Amino acid sequence: MTNSAHWLTGHSFGESVRSGHSQARNALGMSFFDYLEQHPAQAAEFSAGMSAGTAMWGQNLADAIDTTGIRRAVDVGEANGALLSRLQDANAELQGVVFDRPNIAESAKAMIAESAYASRTDVVGGDFFESVPSGDLYLLKFILGHGGMMDLNMLACVDGRGRSREEFDMLLERAGLRRTKARTTGAPQSAIEAIAA
Ligand SMILES: C[S@@+](CC[C@H](N)C(=O)[O-])C[C@H]1O[C@@H](n2cnc3c(N)ncnc32)[C@H](O)[C@@H]1O
Repeated sequence: MTNSAHWLTGHSFGESVRSGHSQARNALGMSFFDYLEQHPAQAAEFSAGMSAGTAMWGQNLADAIDTTGIRRAVDVGEANGALLSRLQDANAELQGVVFDRPNIAESAKAMIAESAYASRTDVVGGDFFESVPSGDLYLLKFILGHGGMMDLNMLACVDGRGRSREEFDMLLERAGLRRTKARTTGAPQSAIEAIAA
């Protein structure tokens, strides 16, 4: 949070709270993630910071996800595949896709190519607002919501916010999905599982 992408948007935090919307476009002249793309060192720092969070809590989340019968899991918006690789540790058959913005996917490719997961992991760049690669499990960690202090940061940077379970249910319903499980994980994050309604 010490880089300019964060502190420039942070300057307008009062306005974000008043309006309920990120002021990134005013503060940065573009969206938060477009700005990171223009500033590769900050993008790398951001991805490393997110992965550091997964290093702390990822195992708790992975333990809450049953991949029995799953062939191909798509980690949506997961720069370094940090959660996916934990699921692959637990399930030796599991194929995976790390999906992120093209600039992030490009740097993830080299990293994953050198990892133990290379033969089971594709790295694909794209825009999740347009489409995502096919799979039979989609992981969305810190994509639809965060919690606590991170909510404030999300509001400032990307219009994001936390959601109650009821709000998640409404969101899932709008997407044609139905929640099948919600469980605490021993980490600050809970895991919600949903299937096609
Ligand atoms: C808050 S981070 C979450 C990272 C990771 N899932 C985690 O939990 O640590 C959001 C991620 O989504 C990616 N992202 C943002 N907008 C995207 C888009 N339109 N299409 C694909 N990926 C996107 C970002 O590059 C970033 O890696």
